[in-house]
Amino acid sequence: MESMRWENGVLMLLDQTRLPGEVYYKPCRDYREVAEAIKTLRVRGAPAIGAAAAYGMVLGALSANYESIEKYLDDVEKVGRVLKSTRPTAVNLAWAVDRMLITLRNAGIRDFKKLNNILLEEANKIYREDIDSNRKMGQYGQELIPKGASILTHCNAGALATAGYGTALGVIRAAQEAGKEVSVYADETRPLLQGARLTAWELMQDNIPVTLITDNMVGYLMSKRKVDLVIVGADRIAANGDVANKIGTYGVAVLAKEHKIPFYVAAPFSTVDLDLPNGDAIPIEERDANEVTAFGSVMVAPEGVKVWNPAFDVTPNKLVTAIITEKGVIKPEYKHNLRKLTDNP
Ligand code: MRU
Repeated sequence: MESMRWENGVLMLLDQTRLPGEVYYKPCRDYREVAEAIKTLRVRGAPAIGAAAAYGMVLGALSANYESIEKYLDDVEKVGRVLKSTRPTAVNLAWAVDRMLITLRNAGIRDFKKLNNILLEEANKIYREDIDSNRKMGQYGQELIPKGASILTHCNAGALATAGYGTALGVIRAAQEAGKEVSVYADETRPLLQGARLTAWELMQDNIPVTLITDNMVGYLMSKRKVDLVIVGADRIAANGDVANKIGTYGVAVLAKEHKIPFYVAAPFSTVDLDLPNGDAIPIEERDANEVTAFGSVMVAPEGVKVWNPAFDVTPNKLVTAIITEKGVIKPEYKHNLRKLTDNP
């Protein structure tokens, strides 16, 4: 299942707000449509929004002002600012936009058509590299998974959340491909149900056994020894290994520690932000109250109730058993080991 594809100047985005009911690719012909799709979670998951933003930059360049190179560059930079402003937590978004801008500045030519082609090539590269990273992560990560393991995951860190194959679900896929006959518990992931709507659907498409639970069943599930390990994705990993991921991840990590269950994070280096010393510095997106007060279009809370709706939380590094990346499995001490692998590609 492709989360997106580029088709003759149009970005076709799988509209994840319609899943699992309907598989619909929304055509985006303008960068503003890409920005809207990221903001409303039509496309979501850290690596997927990075790749979508890269194509958004191409769309922005295609409609930029061609009167002068300065005006063209100004326009493309403005597009970058709009795309970056859509969601603050996943660093892949800013990483992809910045990489596109650096490519543009380093091109050293003034031919708009050629510059647009260079941008498209770079977006394709970001897309392909992400799939490649996920496959490598899968290979490294599956070595940690015992045969017949029962795995808990939170939110959706699958093919849908990336350019393809997935991070956490990529590791699970690789284990399955290696004949390990794993099975998965997906928690539903309130408020927007990425676990129920997306992870359960994605795994069923691949015939990987999956059991759906509500978020508040995790503790009991673990106490009954029904889970051997946890694997989740990440939206941003600080230099010390603190991990921002979908709200609820922290609670799962605390429960895993209590029950002595390994807690793994699978993420590409595009998710690592060495500029931030620790998780306290990670900006956490807060979303609209109606995501909490309603289930779809059905109100489940009194009108006007006060709501707090952070979309992510931060799991401190001490709760993370290992971080699975495309360069290998990183164990504590994270500060040193993350830096070492960043410096040695
Ligand atoms: O709000 P979302 O659905 O974009 O949140 C997604 C997550 O938290 C994922 O776990 C994370 O981005 C990793 S995706 C490979």
